[in-house]
Amino acid sequence: MKAFLIAGARPNFMKIAPIYRASLEHGSVECRIVHTGQHYDYEMSNAFFEDLGIPKPDFCLDAGSGSHAVQTAKIMVAFEEVCKKEKPDLILVVGDVNSTLACSIVAKKLLIDVAHVEAGLRSFDSTMPEEINRIVTDAISDYFFVTEESGLENLLREGKPREKIHFVGNVMIDNLYHQLRNLESDHAERFSVFSLKQAHEKYAFLTLHRPSNVDEREVFTEIVGALNTLAEGRTIFFPMHPRTKKMAHEFGIVFPDRIILLPPLSYQESLFLWKDAEAVLTDSGGLQEETTALEVPCVTIRENTERPITIEVGTNVLAGTKAESIIKAYQESIQKAKTAKKPALWDGKASLRIMKVLCS
Ligand code: UD1
Repeated sequence: MKAFLIAGARPNFMKIAPIYRASLEHGSVECRIVHTGQHYDYEMSNAFFEDLGIPKPDFCLDAGSGSHAVQTAKIMVAFEEVCKKEKPDLILVVGDVNSTLACSIVAKKLLIDVAHVEAGLRSFDSTMPEEINRIVTDAISDYFFVTEESGLENLLREGKPREKIHFVGNVMIDNLYHQLRNLESDHAERFSVFSLKQAHEKYAFLTLHRPSNVDEREVFTEIVGALNTLAEGRTIFFPMHPRTKKMAHEFGIVFPDRIILLPPLSYQESLFLWKDAEAVLTDSGGLQEETTALEVPCVTIRENTERPITIEVGTNVLAGTKAESIIKAYQESIQKAKTAKKPALWDGKASLRIMKVLCS
């Protein structure tokens, strides 16, 4: 079976890495990597291929940035050419970014099967572009690989046939355990952030990039107010997404010295910092799951999450975007982590389960 693994934006790379490795181990699915070019800066893209141990993409679509329509359309036009020429049997899409949506539509219209990894997650917030990508991708997918119980329930409620839904666990967590093992045998002294970590015993780790959090002055300023208060008691390491950097500059937001601004970090460097953080503050989907897997307290700076299991059994506390609620959630998450549990099947073997399903 010839399968295309689709990746375009930063969170996709850590999801395709374990699937690619599992395909080599299992042997019966030949995976080719397609990079849509949604993310293109070295530290948002190439750095991850090196860090995660995945080979260079077989096909690069070079779509780049643009409005949602422009970006999605560019990916679709370029991907259609590749599909017509290469005729894959199946495409595997991961997550909920524009590349996921664009490639699913193209493949489906060319009668190529679509498998969606991380299917069924729903925030029920249609102002979030990712929610639209999830709903549309799931509407046309042939195979649904689910990370948590809520995904299964959502898909069944939407009328998907039970036999097409496979609760396999979480490929993001496969990658996390793999990278954690690498980190143990690696020389962390080579990391640019090594001395920073040594110099700060107590610190929080922050990521922030959702348009709903950083594109509006009022919301961004309110969040920064909470961060300033939290920074009085600990250092905050903040690797900044390009979107966030652009908006902070536009709004004239100045961070205090105790919020240490960093460029986007490699997967390993980022893990090296957050795994020992007092707590992680984030609006990313992946980090909500990864912190739960390693039992690190997590504060999600959003009004909702499509990953409810991280709240039900994990370390995650949904904070909203108001300063007061973020500060309160910070302490709550530290308490919560003491009794948190790991979700079912987050055991590092999801990618192998996916391979088994595809081969059967
Ligand atoms: C995208 C995903 C989001 C994911 C995030 C991870 C969608 C709808 N959104 O959001 O789900 O959590 O990636 O990072 O697919 N830029 C650069 N260099 C790059 C890439 C982007 O400077 O390599 C800048 C550009 O100004 C661009 C902006 O960042 O316009 C936003 O990039 P884009 O891919 O459109 O959305 P993200 O906010 O990264």
